[in-house]
Amino acid sequence: MKNKKNYKYSILILDFGSQYTHLLVRCIRKLGVYCELWSYDVSQEKISQFHPNGIILSGGPESTTELNSSRVPKYIFELNIPVLGICYGMHTMVMQLGGTVKKANKREFGYTQVELKAPSILVHNIKDDINKNGNHILNVWMSHGDKVTSIPVNFITIASTETCLFAIIANEKKHFYGVQFHPEVTHTVQGLHILKRFVYDICNCKPLWIPSKIITEIIKDVREKIGNDKVILGLSGGIDSSVTAILLHYAIGKQLICIFVDNGLLRSHEAQHVKEMFGDYFGLNILYVSAEDYFFKALIGEQDPEIKRKIIGRVFIEVFEKEASKIINVKWLAQGTIYPDIIESAKSTTGGKAHIIKSHHNVGGLPKKINLKLIEPLKELFKDEVRKIGLELGLPYDMLYRHPFPGPGLAIRILGEVKKEYCNLLRHADSIFIEELHKANLYNKVSQAFTIFLPVRSVGVMGDSRTYDWIIALRAVETVDFMTANWVNLPYDFLCRVSNRIINEINGISRVVYDISSKPPATIEWE
Ligand code: XMP
Repeated sequence: MKNKKNYKYSILILDFGSQYTHLLVRCIRKLGVYCELWSYDVSQEKISQFHPNGIILSGGPESTTELNSSRVPKYIFELNIPVLGICYGMHTMVMQLGGTVKKANKREFGYTQVELKAPSILVHNIKDDINKNGNHILNVWMSHGDKVTSIPVNFITIASTETCLFAIIANEKKHFYGVQFHPEVTHTVQGLHILKRFVYDICNCKPLWIPSKIITEIIKDVREKIGNDKVILGLSGGIDSSVTAILLHYAIGKQLICIFVDNGLLRSHEAQHVKEMFGDYFGLNILYVSAEDYFFKALIGEQDPEIKRKIIGRVFIEVFEKEASKIINVKWLAQGTIYPDIIESAKSTTGGKAHIIKSHHNVGGLPKKINLKLIEPLKELFKDEVRKIGLELGLPYDMLYRHPFPGPGLAIRILGEVKKEYCNLLRHADSIFIEELHKANLYNKVSQAFTIFLPVRSVGVMGDSRTYDWIIALRAVETVDFMTANWVNLPYDFLCRVSNRIINEINGISRVVYDISSKPPATIEWE
């Protein structure tokens, strides 16, 4: 949980499980104001510790008209701070303060126009259009089955649609607002503007959640916590562990020891890049562990993707522990945990109302195994915030905006048993594909691209001889959240170039295929 002395302004979002709630958190953070997402039934004590400048009640899949549907604790409306209820959040606020909500005859879903009928600071001078009565119009996105049928005392109607009388309501004196539509989705054109009004003009927050300030606060916090202790960190070269490493380096310098485990399943030249950038350029203390033999030995004969993942996780912990035990006097283990990891694990452990957006694959067993205190400097940040901080800290753009690479590495891109020989072929093919994507200016247009090794031999012809060699598949997807994805329609001449290069330059590959499966039903990785 945030420390109020660090982040002067903050908004608390209480989650009723809407699929849009995570967008709401992103919007507020984008506005430069720190915010956290908690379950709707939070205790009063936790709220007073957090001391938010405003509270937003999210939408949700339930109906307030049903028995035992969720309600916020009553004290939320007695804290003397602004409250904005969105959809379900508005309904519960209305009912808890004495109004009524009924099931609508017709579910309203999609675009609609809201007509402003009375002035309110929430929407003052915000409009998409003006209608023939001279009233301001907002184009908004609705998704609701219930609607408010009477509003509590001291509330007024600010805006209506043709079918929804209470589209925006307000009790200006108490700073309570309700909106039937979803300002957090991009379809609501002025949505961010409305949230900005709430956060800046109603809750009086200031945009202090910006990279340079966040860095200063984290560094201060780390120094206070760590003092003169030693910290170890598993540096993988991925975004989160890299940004964690640099932050800690600026905070505590040589007290940080990074352990880089080369498992033999990395991309081409990865280990060398990590050594050069973090060791030579930034001057970090790096312990390089060449452990590929351990990993390959442990993977011998194993075909099953999930067991392969488990083996890699287990061997990593064994190798890391062994190396860590050689460093004397270490008190802390640093990890690159980010905010979505925290939200997801909170939801999976407390059975929160929202659907899990993305299950994370690398739930580390490390902290439990190693008897060290845990420090997670990025645990309040989203991935894009981590990237911005990384840039501010001087990490290269290309590294921070690379496609994601899975923890088990090439092992899940080699179907079935993993062998060193396959890894070498795959690594080479992958580097050709990625290099060509960059050259064709396509790398940043796809969300993730990689190659897969198919341990199947097929016949080919090279010169006058017959070949009987392995197959490489190319995969390139476009996605927003990696939960669903479309295969990318890469130009034929580009595919042709990549295929020619792979077959001609790599001895052992006789055929290249392109994967045209979307997710679902296929997954992005082949295993
Ligand atoms: P799937 O294959 O589940 O992939 O559609 C979705 C995203 O998750 C990545 N992925 C993993 N990442 N460990 C990771 O760190 C894993 O075991 C793992 N499996 C899949 C995948 O690369 C894609 O970005």
